[in-house]
Amino acid sequence: MSPSAGGRATSAPIMGRDAEPTLFELSSPGRRAASFRTTGLPEWEPEELVPGGHLRGEPAPIAEISERDLVAHFTRLSHRQYSVDLGAYPLGSCTMKYNPKLCDDAASLPGLADVHPAAPAALTQGWMELLAELEQALCRVTGMHAATLQPPAGAAGELTGLLLMRAWHTERGNPRHKIVIPDSAHGTNPASVTLGGYETVTVPSDHRGLVDVAALRERLDDDVAGIMLTNPNTLGLFEEDIAEIAAAVHEVGGLLYYDGANLNAILGVTRPGDMGFDIVHMNLHKTFAVPHGGGGPGAGPVAVSERLAPYLPGPRPVLGDDGAYAWQTPSKSIGRVHSWHGNALALARAYSYILANGGDGLRRVAEAAVLNANWLRTRLRGIYDLPYDRPAMHEFVASTSTLKKGKGLRALDVAKRLLEEGFHAPTVYFPLIVDEALMIEPTETESLQTLEALGDALERIAAGDADNAHHAPRTTPVRRVDEARAARQLIPTWDSRE
Ligand SMILES: Cc1ncc(COP(=O)(O)O)c(C=O)c1O
Repeated sequence: MSPSAGGRATSAPIMGRDAEPTLFELSSPGRRAASFRTTGLPEWEPEELVPGGHLRGEPAPIAEISERDLVAHFTRLSHRQYSVDLGAYPLGSCTMKYNPKLCDDAASLPGLADVHPAAPAALTQGWMELLAELEQALCRVTGMHAATLQPPAGAAGELTGLLLMRAWHTERGNPRHKIVIPDSAHGTNPASVTLGGYETVTVPSDHRGLVDVAALRERLDDDVAGIMLTNPNTLGLFEEDIAEIAAAVHEVGGLLYYDGANLNAILGVTRPGDMGFDIVHMNLHKTFAVPHGGGGPGAGPVAVSERLAPYLPGPRPVLGDDGAYAWQTPSKSIGRVHSWHGNALALARAYSYILANGGDGLRRVAEAAVLNANWLRTRLRGIYDLPYDRPAMHEFVASTSTLKKGKGLRALDVAKRLLEEGFHAPTVYFPLIVDEALMIEPTETESLQTLEALGDALERIAAGDADNAHHAPRTTPVRRVDEARAARQLIPTWDSRE
């Protein structure tokens, strides 16, 4: 039986068609269906594999395009894209830093990339060693005892942490119902609390932008399962009273959950475990150079103190007395939180980042992140409002409150004008407790020249005409859209001229 030709004629060769025999090919118009060709194995007529009544009569109407046109299409699209490979991306809280190509290279090694997740432990000892060592490295960085690598994002880590809290308290005979969260918290925190079946209790920030400890004490009782905090917090400020907060929460039997979104600010300098936290998630895609990838796949491992280790999700790679790794599920495990072993290639990227930097290098990451943020904060003093104008950590919050009152320039206008200036916009209108917030995180990977250019652009925008800014951006493929309406009335269209 000879392979049949492609279903429809095209002017240029179809990708791969001329080179290698493909696994199966579409039938030509006269034939009933595909012929199955498996290199080196016997060949079968389709009827021998699939009952006749289920076979397709006509070729599937799959669009065909030449390789040349396809490459041109995606190259054009890529030129319209803004990314961390192109320039600064000061998206506060989200930590969009440059990801070294070394990490991609490491994760692309065939010995890692070509392994099926279902391959037995005997054949994947190298992978298991990598995962076990990554767990240990993350525990060393956070001051924790054991970790799970399964959660695929920070928010998934949050839910995992809350399920761990539930398991802990339930075994002690009082499942508890409340989780305390500061009013500056990221939106995923209260969302995870609701998803985890708890009720959110909000604690206000004080004039310093830190947790109001007196107000926290008023909210603590034996129905509080725990508190979720990020430190530095979402204003980029270090929670100075963290030891007092930890003692107060532990006093009522609650647990402390560390939202590790801002861990790049303290890497190698201090550890959540030393601050009194019991459960920590890390956004490997923020702290350890893994692409965010449009909502995933990221990696949000969760590390815990010794008393919570038996509840961790499983299976985990454990080194046996025989010197071999085996998959083991902890004795009181809450179960799986992700299929297979999490987003394994993202984990390999993070591991290569940790090894490439080493302990000292990770500390330098934090120092550079903090230095860059404070340089830019100082540069913008007197140009934008700085509601908490004191030394920040890796990010800071500015505001256009005065500019809005004076000439109608809002945070949204600044963000849109910045796109015209050739930068990505910062996070805007977050945290919610700051009016017209611009949350700026330059990240550790930007050079002084880039910071200067970003500072100059932000100054030009503040000094510019607000009416003009209302129409920005004019230089991007898509101009200003009504985002609220677009989210509610999505009209997907395809422009055939693209
Ligand atoms: C403070 C904070 N917590 C949690 C998250 C959620 O992390 P992820 O986007 O990985 O789900 C983010 C994300 O930006 C964050 O900034």
